[in-house]
Amino acid sequence: MMITVVGSVNMDLVVQTDVFPKQGETVLGQLFTTVPGGKGANQAVAAARLGGNVHMVANVGDDGFGEELLENLKGNLVDVSGVTESTGVATGIANILLSDGDNRIIVVPGANYELTPACIDEMKETIRASKLVLLQLEIPIPTIIHTLKICADLNVPVLLNPAPAGGFQNEFMSYLTYLTPNETECEQIFGPDMEAALESYPNQLIVTLGSAGARYYDGEKHVIIEGFNTDVVDTTGAGDTFNGAFAYAIVEGFELTEAVTFANAAASLSVEKFGAQGGMPARADVELRLGSDWR
Ligand code: RIB
Ligand code: NA
Repeated sequence: MMITVVGSVNMDLVVQTDVFPKQGETVLGQLFTTVPGGKGANQAVAAARLGGNVHMVANVGDDGFGEELLENLKGNLVDVSGVTESTGVATGIANILLSDGDNRIIVVPGANYELTPACIDEMKETIRASKLVLLQLEIPIPTIIHTLKICADLNVPVLLNPAPAGGFQNEFMSYLTYLTPNETECEQIFGPDMEAALESYPNQLIVTLGSAGARYYDGEKHVIIEGFNTDVVDTTGAGDTFNGAFAYAIVEGFELTEAVTFANAAASLSVEKFGAQGGMPARADVELRLGSDWR
């Protein structure tokens, strides 16, 4: 039961600091680390760690970061036959400032923006064999649109995590099985009335609420599924863990409520460790957090 992720691969350049610099100011930070990231790769790794059969469609540059990121995906048992390499282009990076659990991120897409509609055409058979295609918005919008059309032609369900929300177009909704914005992204896309948005897209729009969990409208009532309280080390990648786990659970045949509960638990485990992919759990760890009688 295959999941295909069409998305970004970044190296995260993480600086831990006591204070964020103000404009024109220089401060001394505490620690610099490079760790694998990119919303696409993170979601692929999240689903694969849980036991999912995951194929990644992406583009990296011909530099050291690209090589490291490919190795990381392989190490997490993600199939990388759909990852191409562009010559003379830098692999995507995310410049992440971390302070007190708070983060500020600048992404430079680089090679991720070389993932063209033609690259997706080459992956048609993989998409056809997939139970679900998982997308984010860190690749070119024409590539997103092309992928949506191919999935519609092939009758393959699509989950879009609209992050960052900037490139979202309302026409996407008719192609999507699920849309999973966080509260900020939901407001950017649908405006301030979240309840109205949820009621317009029953069982399709799932809004994540950070540690508070997630919510959707089931056609009759609003369903709020509480999250898990835990000691937070690093929230980077928590949303990605939610999405990868949600995709995994849907493909496993979980009911919507169960899939959201499972994804909440996975995300809560992910924030306990440093790095976007640092705390992404195996299925057994998620089951442990949920307790024996959760379904
Ligand atoms: O969602 C977290 C991710 O966003 C980071 O890994 C970073 O690469 C950015 O894409
Ligand atoms: Na983490």
